[in-house]
Amino acid sequence: MARQGGFCLGSFFLILGFIGFFSTPAEAAIKKYQFDVHVKNISRLCHAKPIVTVNGMFPGPTIYAKEGDSVLINVTNHAQYNMSIHWHGLKQFRNGWADGPAYITQCPIQTGKSYTYSFNITGQRGTLWWHAHILWLRATVYGAIVIMPKEGTSFPFPQPVRETNLIFGEWWNNDVEEIVKQGNQMGLPPNMSDAHTINGKPGPLFPCSEKHTFAMEVEQGKTYLLRIINAALNDELFFAIAGHNLTVVEIDAVYVKPFTTQSILIAPGQTTNVLIQANQRPGRYFMATRTFMDVPIAVDNKTATAILQYKGIPNTVVPLFPSLPAPNDSNWALSYNSKLKSLNTANFPANVPLNVDRHLFYTIGLGQNSCPTCLNGTRLTASLNNVTFVMPETALLQAHYFNMKGVFTLDFPDRPPTPFNYTGAPLTANLRTSLGTRLSKIAFNSTVELVLQDTNLLSVESHPFHLHGYNFFVVGTGIGNFDPAKDPAKFNLVDPPERNTVGVPTGGWTAIRFRADNPGVWFMHCHLELHTGWGLKMAFVVEDGKGPNQSVLPPPKDLPTC
Ligand code: C2O
Repeated sequence: MARQGGFCLGSFFLILGFIGFFSTPAEAAIKKYQFDVHVKNISRLCHAKPIVTVNGMFPGPTIYAKEGDSVLINVTNHAQYNMSIHWHGLKQFRNGWADGPAYITQCPIQTGKSYTYSFNITGQRGTLWWHAHILWLRATVYGAIVIMPKEGTSFPFPQPVRETNLIFGEWWNNDVEEIVKQGNQMGLPPNMSDAHTINGKPGPLFPCSEKHTFAMEVEQGKTYLLRIINAALNDELFFAIAGHNLTVVEIDAVYVKPFTTQSILIAPGQTTNVLIQANQRPGRYFMATRTFMDVPIAVDNKTATAILQYKGIPNTVVPLFPSLPAPNDSNWALSYNSKLKSLNTANFPANVPLNVDRHLFYTIGLGQNSCPTCLNGTRLTASLNNVTFVMPETALLQAHYFNMKGVFTLDFPDRPPTPFNYTGAPLTANLRTSLGTRLSKIAFNSTVELVLQDTNLLSVESHPFHLHGYNFFVVGTGIGNFDPAKDPAKFNLVDPPERNTVGVPTGGWTAIRFRADNPGVWFMHCHLELHTGWGLKMAFVVEDGKGPNQSVLPPPKDLPTC
């Protein structure tokens, strides 16, 4: 089990109090966890297999903290894979050493070794999550991060009586790393998952799953908070509860203007907090999640279910089923995303950069390279601005911090080499993509606007992009080609949603803005594991500033080596 302890810093603040800091928050704590990564046999869908777990749990333990706390998580790796863990959505100010993507900010923790992730949670509260960040190990190595509001503050919405985490995942009956290896050898996508899961459980629509069904008990008339996380590897998901509306109050650990909806849409990497009211006839109601896919690409389209159960209702009552949007309903998706707006109050302002120092335009391309040993003689690949990212053999943050030469170059292009009609007729022509560990250098504290443009190279598709080390504002989105002359006039610079992972719509574009005030090396990638693996990723080097607290912190002593 996770050790959740910690000692109180009360006396520290007492001393500060004597020298005049009377308004210091009552208690910032240090939360300590031990994560033992080891292999354990578990069974789902009538198949048993060994999976990599944290502390033998699937999903792994939840990290609980308050805004302002410090967290120490010692990870000991007993599995046969070298691995690392990423705290998805935590900003890790000046502290990329604790971010976790393997070969980007650290070398993986080798079998038999330990590494302590040490970070502060500053200016963030809400739901985030953690996951393995190497190979496809996050298929089973993931869990929730719950950050409660600072001592003495509360939610800016009605206080729920209780809260529950709902983590969506994907389950394969066979060994995931083997499946990925086979896919790569053939140059094809690996076999799709055999089920979706809610808190590791597929629900009673699957074989042998009666006992693998998550149920949540509610009492008539009460309000509950659901912390929903999409930890699936490749699938954007709809979610709904029969008979119950969802009031969205937070996304990616940022409060939003509350709105009520029958269903939500959530991409891999994203989190969504919703309030529900147990205001229906006491009974049993299915909660259901199913894939959104609006192009003819094969996906796991099976529905995972859990049960919302009113107190005192017997298990023999057959639950009602919710209606979910059609699997390919692009308009529903666009309209849902357009409802997301930052709360933007005095306490929770949306500090959107109004002026832009650096304009970036990145095209998202899928492609094929020749591969004589592959099944079709080709291998699928992916690129940003025609660059397929190659993973280095040394961690980029170390190479940056210690000025090591020859690990990466700083010439990632700000725009594609040749403009074309990005979202016109499908293009199968040779992209002339190149391979490289090319990074983009950003001046400290400069404001960046990045337009991510989907293309019809092989196929248009929706891509959830995740930026490490930052939240960003989603100032605009549209279908077709981004028009630099007309589209910026329509940007929302007042209350755009602030998040760490955003969907670029199928055959469209998304514009994000952020202030580069966090020095370090920060990974940016499509959060579909399939596409990350094909090279749909890059990294920013945000330079140090000149001020005292504007440079990357020194690395911890136990930082793994490659
Ligand atoms: Cu949640 Cu780089 O990933």
